[in-house]
Amino acid sequence: AQVRKVGIVGGGTVGGGIVEILERRREQLVAATGGVGLEVKAVVVRDAAKARDWTAPPGCVVTEDLEAVLGGDRRGSYGPVDFVRSGGDRFAHTGDDDVDLVVEVMGGTTLAKDVVFRALRAGKDVVTANKALIADCLPEIEAVVAEANAAQGAGAPRVQFGYEAAVCGGIPIIHTMNTDFVGDEVTRLRGIMNGCTNFMLTKMEAEGLSYADCLAEATALGYAEEDPTLDVGGFDARSKLAILVRLAFGVDVDETLISCTGIAGLETIDFEYARGQLDGTIKLLGVAELDGAGGLTAYVTPALVPRGATLASISDATNAVEVASRNLEASLFVGRGAGRFPTANSCVSDVVACARGALPEPFAKKVGGVAFRSDFES
Ligand code: NDP
Ligand code: HSE
Repeated sequence: AQVRKVGIVGGGTVGGGIVEILERRREQLVAATGGVGLEVKAVVVRDAAKARDWTAPPGCVVTEDLEAVLGGDRRGSYGPVDFVRSGGDRFAHTGDDDVDLVVEVMGGTTLAKDVVFRALRAGKDVVTANKALIADCLPEIEAVVAEANAAQGAGAPRVQFGYEAAVCGGIPIIHTMNTDFVGDEVTRLRGIMNGCTNFMLTKMEAEGLSYADCLAEATALGYAEEDPTLDVGGFDARSKLAILVRLAFGVDVDETLISCTGIAGLETIDFEYARGQLDGTIKLLGVAELDGAGGLTAYVTPALVPRGATLASISDATNAVEVASRNLEASLFVGRGAGRFPTANSCVSDVVACARGALPEPFAKKVGGVAFRSDFES
C-alpha cells in the first residue's frame, strides 16, 4: 500500500489537533485518499521536553530538529523509468523515513518561510495554517511551487501547496473561492474574520466581563495568536482579508496599506450604548468592495451592526464571510474560525487532497482594471 510520510512543524494548538485527527480517522482517511496511508513521522517543536496534550503515534518522533521533516529530496527521480520501476508507487523513491508532506503550523514569517520554501524546493507538498505568511508572500510561494513543478521529471506528481486553514479556521473558504466562484464576479466581501476578538466581544457584551479577562479566556482556549496584538489590533483579520482579496479580485494588496483599527480600547459600556441607544452590537469587520469605477477599497474596523443583521448573531469564536457576487448574488459562509479541531480539520482536508493529488491549482482571479485604493493614499 502507498504511504505518505507526514512531518508537522509545530505541535501546539493546531499541530496537536492534526496528530489527533490523523490518528482517530486513520482508516477512513485511507479510504478518502484512495488507498494512501497517512503516517506522521515527526513533529518538530521548540522544546521537545515539554509535556503535550496529545500523544505521538507509533513511529513518530517529537523533536527540535527541523531536518527530521526537511531532510530528503523528492526531486529528480521521477522520470517515467523510475515511475515504472517503482511499480507506479509515486513516492517509492524517497528514503524510508523521509517526510514527503510537510505541515507548517508553527506560525511567524521568518523561520516558517524558510521551512515552507525549503520543503517546496525539495519537491515536498506543503500545507500551512499561517495567514501572516500567506498574506505576506503568497505570490512568492506560488512562484516557488511553479519552479518546483518545473524541476520535477516527466510523469512526476505535481508539488502541491494548501492553506485552507489560513483563513477563517474551519470554513472551507479558500477551496470555495478557488473552485465555486470561478465563473462568478465578486463585488464585495464582508465579515467577521477573527475568532479571538469575536469571542471577546461576545463575552464583553453578554457577561459584562472586562477586556483583559476576555482576552485571557480566549488565550486559554487556544484562539489567540502567540502575540495577541495580532488579534486585538485587527492585524490577523487584515491578513485574512488580504488573502481573500487576492482570491476574489485578483489584486495583490500590500496588507500594511489596508486601513486597520482593532478592538483595544473598547469597554463594556460601549456595548450598552450600542444596544440601548443605537439598537445594535459591535463587531470587528473586514470589508473589501469594488466601487463601480475600477477601484477596490478594503479596511478592518470595529463597526456598529444593527441587531437584526446576520452578522450581529455571529457569536463566540465563530466567523462569517458574506460574499456579494454577480451570479450567486449573496452567499454566506459561517463556521468555527479558530481553535484546535476546526483549524486542524482544514489542515487535514488539505493533507488528504495532497495525498490524492487533488489540491486545486492555485490561481488568482483577475478582474480587469481593478486597482486597490488605500485609505492611506491622499
Ligand atoms: P501554538 O503557539 O499553539 O503552537 C506553535 C507550535 O510551534 C508549538 O508547538 C511550538 O513549540 C512550535 N514552534 C514555535 N516556534 C518554533 C521554532 N522556532 N522551532 C520549532 N518549533 C516551534 O500555535 P497555534 O497552533 O495556535 O498556531 C499555529 C499556526 O496556526 C499559526 O500560524 C496560527 O496563526 C495558525 N492558526 C491558528 C489557529 C488557532 O485557532 N490557534 C487558527 C488558524 C490558524 P513548543 O510547543 O515547544 O513551544
Ligand atoms: N487567532 C486567530 C483567530 C486564529 O482568533 O481568528 C484563527 O486564524
